[in-house]
Amino acid sequence: MLNSLRSRDMAYHFHSQTNPRRHELDGPLMIVKGEGCHVIDELGNRYLEGMGGLWCASLGFENERLAEVAAAQMKTLATYHTFNYRSNDPCADVVEQVAELSPIPGSRVFLVNSGSEANDTMVKLAWYYNIARGKPLKRKIISRTGAFHGSTVMGAALGGLPHMHESFNLPGLNVIYAEKPHFYKNGLPGESEEAYCNRLVGELENLIDAEGPDTIAAMIAEPIMGAGGVVTPPAGYFPRVREILTRHDILLLSDEVVCGFGRSGNWFGCETFGFVPDMMSVAKGLSSGYVPIAAAVIGDHVYQTIADEADRIGVFGHGFTYSGHPVTAAVAAEVLRTYREMDVPGRARELGNHLFAKLEASVAGHPLVGEIRGAGFLAGIELVADKGTRTPFDPALKVGALVEGRCRAHGVMIRNMGDVISICPPFVMTTSQIDELVGGIAAALEDAHAELRK
Ligand SMILES: Cc1ncc(COP(=O)(O)O)c(C=O)c1O
Repeated sequence: MLNSLRSRDMAYHFHSQTNPRRHELDGPLMIVKGEGCHVIDELGNRYLEGMGGLWCASLGFENERLAEVAAAQMKTLATYHTFNYRSNDPCADVVEQVAELSPIPGSRVFLVNSGSEANDTMVKLAWYYNIARGKPLKRKIISRTGAFHGSTVMGAALGGLPHMHESFNLPGLNVIYAEKPHFYKNGLPGESEEAYCNRLVGELENLIDAEGPDTIAAMIAEPIMGAGGVVTPPAGYFPRVREILTRHDILLLSDEVVCGFGRSGNWFGCETFGFVPDMMSVAKGLSSGYVPIAAAVIGDHVYQTIADEADRIGVFGHGFTYSGHPVTAAVAAEVLRTYREMDVPGRARELGNHLFAKLEASVAGHPLVGEIRGAGFLAGIELVADKGTRTPFDPALKVGALVEGRCRAHGVMIRNMGDVISICPPFVMTTSQIDELVGGIAAALEDAHAELRK
């Protein structure tokens, strides 16, 4: 074991979103192989992956067709860049497909490597757009409490999760926060969903008035908040937010990193919730998580203003070495072709109906389960100490983490964000695998319940 790759990981690897001291002692779960919707660890344990890894692997964990495309591209043109008027065939292919699928009129696609870079790019574009229009004071970005938008400096600044800020000493980047639209948790006693929605959008408008619309460039929001706890907005929320922002000349940026490419039952989450953003970020599902590629998708009205400004300067001073990398672009282009052949939005609706029916039948009545929510093939389970009063658990009990650990022991991988369990499976999952997934979660809930009663 001392010379195993696992021990080397413990010695040399400073991990993302991990407690480093605990990692030094306990080490990682080494995943060595993917087989369809399963991943297999170094001891040969098989896990049915209910989270697509990190909300990514829409096509499962291995795919011959994509492996062949990647290998063929490596042999044809393994690397090149897109600075200074260079491009390559896969790059042109993928941007055309993203633009075709995009609900934003006249979409242009700026390729980057991660969701964080895509969100950074949208913010920089929003600032550039306002400079181009002679409005340099329009700089603030509205985000929401509980939001996750990535880990770069701007991504973290946009985030509304305390651990993304604590001890990082992030610079002031003019981010202001609206309330997370979570009716189950934040609705007042006796308040209807409609009244809650009225209150939320009223508070947003008050925030805009108090800060001054002339100081606000954009609002960023996920259609369904993923890492924020699979939070679905109250009915009518987004169309009303869109109307308020348009009235105040504020751009709406849809973070589609989790919701994009079929997850919510339409190609993009904004379509499911009835709004058209000015820009959107896509990542994860764009390549089924197989290679790092992401994009900012920009509406024509924003693009034209930015292009004129860049023309005045002589260059648009933004971009990354691997923007439009031929291998990542080739894989993503083939992923999108596969999604279109499969009709992933339709598949998400079909599989989602099965998943939600199963959760309703086997999990909803469990004493630890407060709410089951989501859309398409994306679900969240809110764990509570008291179902009747919706009282949350003391966070120190780490009930969500307990359930996650028990799921793994039952051969099922989900994720807990605090006391919310998230489910975001590959679209290649079968209905019997969904039954197995829900069965594992139900068994884990039973285990956790017994543990808590000790
Ligand atoms: C909604 C959302 N936005 C942005 C990101 C950041 O993406 P990345 O980790 O690729 O930078 C994530 C990652 O989980 C995400 O869930």
